[in-house]
Amino acid sequence: MQIINTITPDYRSYLSKEEIAAIEHEASIMETREAAGIEALKVVQKHRGWISDDSLYAIAQLLNMSAAELEGVATFYNLIYRQRVGRYVIHICNSISCHLSGYQQVLQAIKEHLGIDYGQTTDDGLFTLLSNACLGGCDKAPVMMIGEHHYQYLSAEKALQILEKLAAGASTENYLSSFVSQGQGENNRESGSEQNNRSRDYLDDDDAGGHISEMELSDE
Ligand code: FES
Repeated sequence: MQIINTITPDYRSYLSKEEIAAIEHEASIMETREAAGIEALKVVQKHRGWISDDSLYAIAQLLNMSAAELEGVATFYNLIYRQRVGRYVIHICNSISCHLSGYQQVLQAIKEHLGIDYGQTTDDGLFTLLSNACLGGCDKAPVMMIGEHHYQYLSAEKALQILEKLAAGASTENYLSSFVSQGQGENNRESGSEQNNRSRDYLDDDDAGGHISEMELSDE
């Protein structure tokens, strides 16, 4: 990120009351306000889906830290997204156990099914595909993570079944039509007011990545 000296608007005109309250809570239980950086990023990402530059500046201002310092925190954690991502972010483990257990077939099937490569998002804004180091399920490889859900013992067929179920769930919520109408298929930076008008409540913990449970598609 290129840190540019700009006149930053007051964070209260950018962050919602809910976001500010949640961040203040995190700050209150840390030794310093700066120490709440990662949790503050998670709070805003939960509401907006990713961390735009405007979000970063606002959070940094609220926590009395520099944007550059907070950017260092954001880029350290691979689950903080500094670019717009789809509703479902697919993290596929590309470490050794998964490589030896069918990772390539799973990856190829997902790429062909979605028509995207690593780092890309489908045009409808539903899926983003990312690689990930070991997800901690080496004895259940291949593994992918979507939201907070880990999907294990994957095959190409099973992975596509998961994606189709997620897509079907999203379509019943009119998510796709609202996404397209708002032009989110373009990875353009948007203004703070636009983002505030589009709080992504669907990223609540219980929902992210899962209209289906891990158990439903488990081989156990
Ligand atoms: S190597 Fe894939 S989960 Fe550990």
